Amino acid sequence: MKKYLVIGNPIGHSLSPLIHNHWMKKYRLFGSIYEKRKVEEKDLKNIVKEIRDDEIIGVNVTVPFKKLIIPFLDELHPTAKKTESVNTLFKVKNKVVGYNTDEPGFAQTMWELFPDKDYKILASLKRKNIFVLGAGGVTSSIIYTLEQRGAKVFLSNRTKKKAEELKKKYTEIDVLDWGKRPPVCDVVINTTSIGLTSNERIDIDFNDCNGDKNKLFYDLTYNPKETNFLKEARLRGNNTMNGQKMFLNQAIHAFNLWTNITPKIDDEVVKLLD
Ligand code: ATR
Repeated sequence: MKKYLVIGNPIGHSLSPLIHNHWMKKYRLFGSIYEKRKVEEKDLKNIVKEIRDDEIIGVNVTVPFKKLIIPFLDELHPTAKKTESVNTLFKVKNKVVGYNTDEPGFAQTMWELFPDKDYKILASLKRKNIFVLGAGGVTSSIIYTLEQRGAKVFLSNRTKKKAEELKKKYTEIDVLDWGKRPPVCDVVINTTSIGLTSNERIDIDFNDCNGDKNKLFYDLTYNPKETNFLKEARLRGNNTMNGQKMFLNQAIHAFNLWTNITPKIDDEVVKLLD
């Protein structure tokens, strides 16, 4: 039996088992199973040992362990190292390696949203002013993509210190007080967990934000499908998108690392998330 896991705390909400088990069946990886496991920080060392001992083949890591897992690993992939965020584990040449597939998952989503005429993503995001809300575990992956693509990033987090910590790593960002917004922005990305519970809302006035109704409001949350952040943006006439595509893209990258298969996003998989 080839065992795969997603670990986190809480973990009940994770839709990763649905997706990966669907692909394992679709691509006839009989004898493979993907489960979720709620763990505590003290369990992380043992999870890595289980991979080293081939009891588990691959692991996805979610909140709040994406950074906490790092000291227990043998090696980090360069993107995981830069972002200090690991969401996928896999043993390569006897070493348990930490990967970050959130970053390519987000990069691919941005590429699909902003393809340049000649497919030069570097150029397509370069012209954008992007306002990022939050400075939690996944935010550094988002900023890494944006910075690499030459976007101008404005960052705001309730706890300003955490935004300033990120600025030390990504110098090309402007940190704003929570509640303020930049004078211009083409895309607003919510990386906070506000919205996971239905009645929370972000208290920032986006009315008349640059006077352009065509800007995109993007929420990393995909469950619920439409957070208050997205609903309010839609009612103002803005374009909106939730985090479903990024979630699927990061899962594709993880599945490919483990199995060498690049799964397709088909209707069935989208239905599983509905
Ligand atoms: P962590 O910070 O432990 O990595 P996370 O779930 O990845 O946790 O991140 C939660 C993010 O949502 C943080 O940016 C958090 O802001 P703080 O750093 O100030 O805690 C943000 N967040 C969660 N609830 C919020 C709220 N009610 N108002 C504003 N920001 C909130």
